[in-house]
Amino acid sequence: MKKKKKASESLTLMTNIVLPNETNSLRNLFGGELLSRMDRCASISASRHSERRVVTASVNHVSFNEPIPEGSVVVLESKVSRAFSTSMEVYVDVWLDDPIHRKKIHTNTGIYTFVAVDQFNKPVPVAELQPETQEEQERYKAALRRKELSLILSGRMKPTESIELKKLFAGEA
Ligand SMILES: CC(C)(COP(=O)(O)OP(=O)(O)OC[C@H]1O[C@@H](n2cnc3c(N)ncnc32)[C@H](O)[C@@H]1OP(=O)(O)O)[C@@H](O)C(=O)NCCC(=O)NCCS
Repeated sequence: MKKKKKASESLTLMTNIVLPNETNSLRNLFGGELLSRMDRCASISASRHSERRVVTASVNHVSFNEPIPEGSVVVLESKVSRAFSTSMEVYVDVWLDDPIHRKKIHTNTGIYTFVAVDQFNKPVPVAELQPETQEEQERYKAALRRKELSLILSGRMKPTESIELKKLFAGEA
């Protein structure tokens, strides 16, 4: 396994159009449909980084900032933002790309955790991540805090065991 991999090595882009059967009663993209697309895109990034099969361990955050109307061109862009021992945090940014008016609107962000697994579905180690751009570095830095929060919310960690979150609430982060 390579020691470190760049975030850009896991870059995954998915471009698609919103069809009528993928919309809600307001004729905007149905939230569950978008979540499914985000999960697929993010899983490809995690697989590209780890060079393994991956499973979704948690959806840490999803924001729906702007509606995406029927007929829109939607671009999903995902990259691994940090790798831990066997798990990876993946950021998915969603854009509404209007080729007619040459507008690109950032509509959603999703943050997922994937775990690399072997043929017996047992977690296996992954390469470290090397963030490069300023955004990659910021996302990398805050990922440990999000991992701790996710582990606490899922009952896998006691709040007293957290390191980064304690720092955050003490105003040190
Ligand atoms: C995710 C899964 C592989 C974890 O297996 P496990 O035996 O509990 O393994 P571990 O406790 O060693 O956890 C593995 C890693 O996942 C991380 N993890 C597990 N649950 C997590 C959560 N809710 N949030 C963040 N990280 C989590 C652990 O911190 C650990 O990370 P690290 O090795 O990088 O430190 C297992 O729970 C599983 O297979 N779940 C089902 C996945 C699935 O089917 N997804 C599709 C849903 S339809």
